[in-house]
Amino acid sequence: MIDIRKFTDNRGYLSVIEGGMDIPFEIKRIYYLYMVPEVARGAHAHKALQQLLVATSGSVEVIMDDGVSKKSFILDKPWKGLLVAPGLWRDLENFSGGAVLMCLASEKYDAADYIRDYDEFKAYKGL
Ligand code: TYD
Repeated sequence: MIDIRKFTDNRGYLSVIEGGMDIPFEIKRIYYLYMVPEVARGAHAHKALQQLLVATSGSVEVIMDDGVSKKSFILDKPWKGLLVAPGLWRDLENFSGGAVLMCLASEKYDAADYIRDYDEFKAYKGL
């Protein structure tokens, strides 16, 4: 988890993320999830992609899994970011009403970088 820089004065808050400075990669792509109903998303790993996840509104639970153990992270503030290294399985759950999950990504979209099968993920990790 990282604290994203914020500037605050009587006009409110402004947070900023610069690629290569606030996070350890240049940002090549941004996407965001919103109006998510009561379902889980994610359920995949990436071979090379690095990401920063930020709930810019509302809250989201991110469950990270290295194939051996799982850890849950709650993203519930616009200045809290979760850096996701490659080779980790992630499940996105418990989106609050109005939640927006923004994902900053180190690479353009590449379907071949995804591992969507959990057994394949375990094998990829040598487990
Ligand atoms: P998907 O990977 O299923 O979302 P999640 O990881 O939240 O379960 O993506 C949904 C659709 O969006 C899928 O058809 C692929 C497409 N997509 C792109 O075209 N470009 C992108 O950068 C992303 C993240 C998804």
